[in-house]
Amino acid sequence: MTSPLPSDHYPFTSVNISPSNPPALKRVSWKSPSNIALVKYWGKKPVQIPTNASISFTLDHAHTITSVQPTIRKGGAPFITFSFEGSKAPAFAHRIERFFTSLFPIMPWIENYNWEIESENSFPHSSGIASSASSMSALALCLCDLESQFADRKLTHEDFYKKASYVARLGSGSAARSVFPKLASWGSHKQIVDSTNLYATPHMGVAKVFSTFHDDIIIVSKEKKSVSSSAGHRLMETNPFASTRYQQANEHLSSLLLCMKEGDLSSFGKIVEDEALTLHALMMCSNPSYILLEPNTLEIIKRIRLFREKTGLHVYFTLDAGPNVHILYPDYQKEEISAFIQEDLLSFAEDGLIIKDQIGAGPQKLL
Ligand code: PMV
Repeated sequence: MTSPLPSDHYPFTSVNISPSNPPALKRVSWKSPSNIALVKYWGKKPVQIPTNASISFTLDHAHTITSVQPTIRKGGAPFITFSFEGSKAPAFAHRIERFFTSLFPIMPWIENYNWEIESENSFPHSSGIASSASSMSALALCLCDLESQFADRKLTHEDFYKKASYVARLGSGSAARSVFPKLASWGSHKQIVDSTNLYATPHMGVAKVFSTFHDDIIIVSKEKKSVSSSAGHRLMETNPFASTRYQQANEHLSSLLLCMKEGDLSSFGKIVEDEALTLHALMMCSNPSYILLEPNTLEIIKRIRLFREKTGLHVYFTLDAGPNVHILYPDYQKEEISAFIQEDLLSFAEDGLIIKDQIGAGPQKLL
């Protein structure tokens, strides 16, 4: 099998085993969270290199648990069995197969095993919440953990997570950020020391209020998106506003870091909302154009803005690549905002589904 990944991009030492005598590996399990981008990654170059830097809150409750058991391959082509919440999921098994193939140049030992992978999500399967960030980061952590079972040199804690972020990135760009707690940025940016396109890094140095943030997700539609994120990234290659957008994203990130450091919630909210609407504006002016927003998405946005004007409270919206609305607010306003969501927004959620989440502590190895 061949892979498109040039191994000279790999900033870690590749570890290998003797193919004639591969070691037995113990089953590993990791729980890894989803994340919500504040400055969005939208557009990429080969291989999974972002066209601008991005930053996200790591979530707490929305997570994937993945367990991986490799068994030594005696002959024939390597095979992967993947089950999701107890049922075989061949479509995702194919995605994992492509992902594993892309990893051969940096993790050549993968080819010596057959793979049994089990996965489950904490959020409802058909909630319209993308799971690639949590699922690919959980899988990447499992692979790095397995590699540490036979590597001669143990990685530092910091390098282990950098490597996991690199590997997660190859599965799904946004997954690179899920490997770190609270706030993580990904992509080369002049104001972020040691930032790189190859993996994400945790971002510190922000006002305390941001570690108390909630993210209540109003599920406007549980339907699978009509245009996938991969197709959306591809359409940026011909988007007439692409280069302006990449510059804007990097400027947004500079400004966002400053207001997060200073605890300036209003400016934070303005940038985050601009980012959400820009993401969807880019979809609308792609060729072909498409719209993922629903009438209820717009109604919720309108009501959040009205409520904010009336009360002066810090409550802001953001959107992922879909119609569901993420409502961000600091914990000290929890009572008022929860009441507002219950009274004014619940009726716009499909089957009344709201996922209440908050900023989280990052992935966890399960025993
Ligand atoms: O990681 P991907 O390839 O599914 O892209 C996700 C992009 C957004 O979720 C829309 C934005 C982001 O930065 O997470």
